[in-house]
Amino acid sequence: MKYDIKDASLAPQGTKRIEWADRDMPVLSLVRERFAREKPLDGRKMSACLHITAETANLARTLKAGGADLVLCASNPLSTQDDVAAGLSIEYDIPVFAVRGEDRDTYYSHIEAAIAHRPSITMDDGADLVNVLHSKYPERAGEITASLEETTTGVIRLRAMAQAGALLFPVVAVNDATTKHLFDNRYGTGQSTIDGIIRATDALLAGKKFVISGYGWCGRGVATRARGMGAVVIITEVDPLRALEAAMDGFLVMPMKEAAAQGDIFVTVTGDMHIIREEHFRAMKDGAVVANSGHFNVEIDIEGLERIADEKNADIKELVDEYIIDGRRIYILGEGRLINLAAAHGHPASVMDMSFATQALVSEYAIQNSDILEPRVYDVPRSIEEWISRLKLESMGISIDTLTPEQEKYLSSYDMGT
Ligand code: ADE
Repeated sequence: MKYDIKDASLAPQGTKRIEWADRDMPVLSLVRERFAREKPLDGRKMSACLHITAETANLARTLKAGGADLVLCASNPLSTQDDVAAGLSIEYDIPVFAVRGEDRDTYYSHIEAAIAHRPSITMDDGADLVNVLHSKYPERAGEITASLEETTTGVIRLRAMAQAGALLFPVVAVNDATTKHLFDNRYGTGQSTIDGIIRATDALLAGKKFVISGYGWCGRGVATRARGMGAVVIITEVDPLRALEAAMDGFLVMPMKEAAAQGDIFVTVTGDMHIIREEHFRAMKDGAVVANSGHFNVEIDIEGLERIADEKNADIKELVDEYIIDGRRIYILGEGRLINLAAAHGHPASVMDMSFATQALVSEYAIQNSDILEPRVYDVPRSIEEWISRLKLESMGISIDTLTPEQEKYLSSYDMGT
């Protein structure tokens, strides 16, 4: 099969959407222009397991402009934009294997299709492609120059694999680049999570008790946006430093057991499993709304909820399932899958601009350094990060100061002006 998409007739609509996003991705456009001239990825086979969105499409166009022979598959069954998948496969001739709402078997058959492409560079958002390569095709490891990982959850897993000596090829932790997590995780997740919850529920946030589990970059982003809309924000954490930071940022901090009884809206962004479970559902108020914005749908123990619920009414509204426990209604959004992509359009293009410019430049870096890369987790080189931030500032019409020679000397001395 050349590609597997929902409906080829959606291609013109998808193409418009891709072009619209591209207007807000000036840094990636500059990379694309250079890649088209220099062809740094010439003839390289690449497979990318990413959310199939308009922003990802512009990354794919950039890699193709650089000479890559690229296929894409979804990194989540509910995040695919079917019109974008059609636009990419048909108008841009970049094969996509992804259909929104695909079942587990189809999801994995699409990952298999990406592996059958025999890539030398892979990209992941959650490490599923790398996992299947390791578990089913370890003999192919020698073919992989490097794999690039886009998300916190994936990097945590890959570092664990490296630590255990189980990692078979080099990985670059794109997520850990400042140009990625400081902006995408904070401002991207912050805005798109609130967007997803509002689109799914039409709820007013002002005056609501909004419980956020996890105060990493994503949690910080959601918390400041929710506060900005008038919610009373409660943070739950397991890390004392992060909990302290949340408290000093002015948020209420408490264990989930307490928060469960108070919250109107709950969002998990921890990267861990069963953050909200039976004991918490039992304590919740009538009408509580529960969503997840972490990568995998394991943060909310929906199986536990199904066990204790007296009744389930699926799809009482698009992407809303109602569960009744002792007469109290609890609403689960998007089956516990990442709500920012299930109910909204994911992070805005302007922030994905930096994440995906980083991805594109790191793929070039991996090829240039293929001789020295070993099976471990690498950081993104500082020079790439600086280049991207300068160009992003420029595109925003912002200029900054430079050090005077006197200031440079002061910073490198230990006896001046003390
Ligand atoms: N992850 C979060 N938002 C995204 C988007 N718009 N495109 C691709 N991946 C994303």
